[in-house]
Amino acid sequence: MNTSTIPVAAVIGHPVNHSRSPRMHNFWLAHFGLEGYYIPLDIDPKKFERSIRNLPELGLVGANITIPYKEKVLKIADKISDRAALVGAANTLTFLPNGGIYADNTDGYGFLQNIKSKYKDWSAREGISVVFGAGGASRAILAALIEDGASDIILANRTRSRADQLRSDFGAKIKVVEWMKVQNYLSEASTIINTTSLGMAGKTDLPIPLNALKKNTLVTDIVYTPIETHLLATAAKMGCRTVDGLGMLIHQAIPGFERWFGIRPGDSQALRELLIK
Ligand code: ATR
Repeated sequence: MNTSTIPVAAVIGHPVNHSRSPRMHNFWLAHFGLEGYYIPLDIDPKKFERSIRNLPELGLVGANITIPYKEKVLKIADKISDRAALVGAANTLTFLPNGGIYADNTDGYGFLQNIKSKYKDWSAREGISVVFGAGGASRAILAALIEDGASDIILANRTRSRADQLRSDFGAKIKVVEWMKVQNYLSEASTIINTTSLGMAGKTDLPIPLNALKKNTLVTDIVYTPIETHLLATAAKMGCRTVDGLGMLIHQAIPGFERWFGIRPGDSQALRELLIK
């Protein structure tokens, strides 16, 4: 009989039923024939801190963190990665052998890997990036663009003050423009990124006219329901290179799985099909 402990990891949120993470991690566990469990945990906000502190003691190896706890969890962590500190949020916890909690943010990594795995020569360093949206996802993506060498980022958000806040947090590489005027910047862009929830099934599409899109511009969306958003479909018709949002979900999960279960998983068509079911 194997007496070593079977690793257990979780995704923690409130609510958490929407999370695709259990499907993804359990797919990888089965794929590699590993013993292990990945479970959803819906934790009451009043019990959040106490519950998180108890997880290492219960024997969990780590956890993903989702809405509404990505910022709050930093207050509980014992050690925080530079990128999580920069973004001000964490999505991946690892419980250390000494009982400590290490918080990391792999969203920006997932964003970059998603693009680079499809377009190997793409780099944020080249040309201008135009970013729609200034929420939590935008923070992680701006940090990743800057880490990858971007020096010219145009940022537009419906609520201008949130974009101004990101400019003051991330510095002069970011230029904030009016939401209703961002269409004027599309023709100069090498990369265009939607970080808003617009285009998601049940929501309206981006209200931004796209007729100025240039051929070969790389256009990517964090929305993955549907896989091909109105933005991506329009961009593809205009000869742009497109990258859908599902790959970001997959790539942000890879470092956690590797840390907790010891094998580095990958993207695959079978996984993508499972996630969009
Ligand atoms: P997340 O953490 O997923 O980024 P968020 O912080 O709620 O979520 O941010 C959502 C983004 O989508 C924001 O940029 C938001 O714009 P506001 O800051 O003006 O709210 C954007 N967004 C959501 N609904 C929108 C709409 N109907 N029109 C324009 N922008 C919208």
